[in-house]
Amino acid sequence: MKLPNLNDARVRTKNEIEQIYLDQQYDSNTFKGQKYFLKTYGCQMNVHDSEEIAARLESLGFESIDTIEGADLVIMNTCAIRENAHDKLFGFLGRCKHEKEKNNKDLIIAICGCMAKEGEVYENIPYKRDSKIKAWVNIQYGCDKFCTYCIVPYTRGKQRSRKSCEIIKEVKRLIEDGYLEVTLLGQNVNAYGKDLNDISFAQLLEEVAKTGIPRVRFVTSHPWDFSDEMIETIAKYENIMPYIHLPLQAGSSSILKLMGRRYTKEEYIELFNKIKKTIPNVSITTDIIVGFPNETDEDFKETLEVVNECKYDSAFTFIYSPREGTPAAKMEDSIDMKTKEERLQQLNELVNKYSLEANKKYVGKTVKVLIEGLSDKDKTKTFGYTDTMKLVNVVGANNMIGQIVDVVITDAKSFSLDGKIK
Ligand code: 5AD
Ligand code: SF4
Repeated sequence: MKLPNLNDARVRTKNEIEQIYLDQQYDSNTFKGQKYFLKTYGCQMNVHDSEEIAARLESLGFESIDTIEGADLVIMNTCAIRENAHDKLFGFLGRCKHEKEKNNKDLIIAICGCMAKEGEVYENIPYKRDSKIKAWVNIQYGCDKFCTYCIVPYTRGKQRSRKSCEIIKEVKRLIEDGYLEVTLLGQNVNAYGKDLNDISFAQLLEEVAKTGIPRVRFVTSHPWDFSDEMIETIAKYENIMPYIHLPLQAGSSSILKLMGRRYTKEEYIELFNKIKKTIPNVSITTDIIVGFPNETDEDFKETLEVVNECKYDSAFTFIYSPREGTPAAKMEDSIDMKTKEERLQQLNELVNKYSLEANKKYVGKTVKVLIEGLSDKDKTKTFGYTDTMKLVNVVGANNMIGQIVDVVITDAKSFSLDGKIK
C-alpha cells in the first residue's frame, strides 16, 4: 500500500491521520518496500519510545533507512525540555522540507514525542530494542511534580504508573531473551505506584532484583520521594547497581523554593550523605540549572558549595531556558545571558575537576564491566560500563561482548576510564 497523498502541505493532527487509516486491514505487507527514517531527540524515555515506534513500523512492512534521502516517511520523536531542543527540531524540519520540495513530493513528515504531546499507554507493545544486552523498561509515564521551570508535566501529562505485575512480566521475558541489564524508566521513579495504590518503588526494585537479572538500574530520582526503604533495598541487593542520578537543580534554598523543588539545600545534603553512607561504593550524578530568574551571585555560590561538598561523579549542567506555559517563564529576570554563560563555565570546570578525581580513584582497581560492543573510535577495543555507570574502554575483550568481565583500570579521564581484561 502506498502512503496516502498528503500533498496539500497542511499539518494534520493525530485524529485526522487516524481517520485516513480507519477501516484499513494491516499486516506485514501493508507498507512493504517503504522506507522510514526515525530521528530521536532528548532523554532515555524518548529513545525507548522510538524502539516501540520502530517495531510498529516494521510490523507493517516498513524498513529503516539512515538518511532522509530515499525515505518515504520521516518521523521525529521530539523533546521540549529546553528551547535549543526546539531549535534543533526546526533546523531538521527545514532539511525535510527541502527534501520534500526538491526530491520527493510524496515524503510524509511526522512529529511525535513531547512537542506533539503524549499518546496512550498500552500494555504488551513490542519494541525493536537497540541492544540485545541491556533494555529500557518503562515503569511510569508523565510527572506531577510541576517544578516551575519544567515543561514535562504539560507535555507528558500526569504521572501514570504501570502495574507492577506487567513490569515484572516484561523483565522476566527479557531474561528469557538473554538480556543482562534493565533500566527502569520514569520522570520520577521514586514516586512509582502512588497513583495506583500498587507497591512502592522500593518494593518494585526488590521484586525486579529477585527475578535474578544480573543488573538493575533506574532513572530519574527526585530527592523528595527518596525513602529510607529505597536506600536500604539498593544496599541489600547486589544486582541493584550502586549508581544514583539525584538532580540537585540549585544549591540555594531560596532558588529551590522558587523552582518548586520541595527540599532545601540542607535536606538534599542530608539525603546525599545518607545514600553515601548506606550504599557501599555508590556513585552519584546530578542535574544543575544555572541562571534561574534572579539567581544572585550568592545563590550561585551556594550551588558551587554543594558541588564542593558532594563531589559528584558527574553532572549534567544547563542554562535555564524559559518554557512558555510554565510558571517560571512569567518571572521577571534581571540576570543577563553573559553572566549566565560565565556561571555555566565556572560550574563545568568544578564539575569536571571532581569527575576526574572520582575516576582517578579507579586506577589500579579491578571492576566488573558489562561489555556492550566495539569502541566507535578504535575497533581494537570494546566499551562497557561498571556497576557505578563509568564508561570503560577495554583492551582484550573483543570476544567477550555481552559478558560481565573483570577489568583492571589503567587510566582515568574526566568522562571515561581505560582498562584491560584481567
Ligand atoms: N531549562 C533548563 N534546564 C531544564 N531542565 C528541565 N527543564 C529545564 C529548563 N526549562 C533540566 C533539569 C532536568 C533535566 C532533564 O533538564 O536539570 O533535571
Ligand atoms: Fe520536570 Fe523532573 Fe520536576 Fe517532573 S520532577 S516537573 S520531570 S524536573
